[in-house]
Amino acid sequence: MTKFQNDLFLRACKRQHVERTPIWIMRQAGRFLPEYRAVREKADFLTMCKTPELAAEVTIQPVDIIGVDAAIIFSDILVIPEAMGMKLEMIESKGPKFYDPIRTVDDVNKLKDIDPTKNLKFVLDAVSLTKKELNGRVPLIGFAGSPWTLMTYMVEGSGSKNFSEIKKFIYNQPTAAHKLLERISDAVADYLSAKIEAGANAVQIFDTWGGLLSQTDFEEFSLRYIQKIISQIKRKDEPVIVFAKGVHYKLDKIAEAGADVIGLDWTIDLNAARKSVGDKVALQGNLDPTVLYANKKKIKEEAVKVLESFGKGSGHIFNLGHGILPDVTPENAKYLVDVIKEESKKFH
Ligand code: CP3
Repeated sequence: MTKFQNDLFLRACKRQHVERTPIWIMRQAGRFLPEYRAVREKADFLTMCKTPELAAEVTIQPVDIIGVDAAIIFSDILVIPEAMGMKLEMIESKGPKFYDPIRTVDDVNKLKDIDPTKNLKFVLDAVSLTKKELNGRVPLIGFAGSPWTLMTYMVEGSGSKNFSEIKKFIYNQPTAAHKLLERISDAVADYLSAKIEAGANAVQIFDTWGGLLSQTDFEEFSLRYIQKIISQIKRKDEPVIVFAKGVHYKLDKIAEAGADVIGLDWTIDLNAARKSVGDKVALQGNLDPTVLYANKKKIKEEAVKVLESFGKGSGHIFNLGHGILPDVTPENAKYLVDVIKEESKKFH
């Protein structure tokens, strides 16, 4: 195993003793950093994802600039549907778009099976290059979207307000939906295994749209497939983090599905979460991302409240409850990291 200069993140994932709480920030490799925007001016988003040197550069930026305790590989969850044959475009200031969304079982059948070592080699190369350049400073996190969240984009074709198309699809064509979820799950499991093989030290599954579903539908269309993926990932002791936004009523079930760490949004108190999962899993989160718009005094107050809500002991990784917003100042992000590094010592 790699020897790290700082392995607080991995120790906290495994609920081992730490001297202070580690912190990283979802979407830390992104537009809030002027250094990211400088790279992005020279290349469009997908070109950056497909150029390992650029992906490695922006992955490491937040480690250098704001001092986070883990890096997350710069990429996107949508490279999987793209590799399965869907034409993807990232539209400036709007977001992702698939021009030919999935609407029928025939569309599902037309998708290609992927071999990540061939079709997504650029991500694996970015992982190995980043590992080399990080040189053991902090661990590297790999990630993928959950099958449900990926299927939502593949069927809607883009972000959505009411998510009508994906709901029509699961209610009117459940067999096609399950067929698609199966295929995405196999692709994601192979992909995450390949990322670990290439050097990722932990992996996070983003179920950004899990909260769109009723409690029973969440189990049927999302959690079941997350569980299948976790059981298929080839790994030694690399932790699996499950971030399912808006579904904190199911923490016990997510723990049972095999997650080592559960990522939480800001609408649940960490103390309540800790009570419901006991010491089965570690918890990651959960500061409201918009707190970073506040002044420093307020940022510190709210950050300390999150530390207090988890309380003493190991098994907490500090993060925001969702991605950092592009118009947050790097100064405030760095201030948060510094506050956590200092204030969390007394909880250990
Ligand atoms: O966390 C990190 O720093 C690693 C990089 C990362 C990106 N996307 C880079 C990105 C990660 C982990 C993701 C995951 C992702 N992508 C999710 C799940 C997490 C979440 O935030 O809920 C989702 C739903 C996507 C799909 C996606 N990609 C959307 C909806 C958008 C447009 C909205 C936006 O934020 O711009 C993207 C584009 C994207 N992915 C950007 C970045 C840095 C911005 C692209 C740019 O530079 O113009």
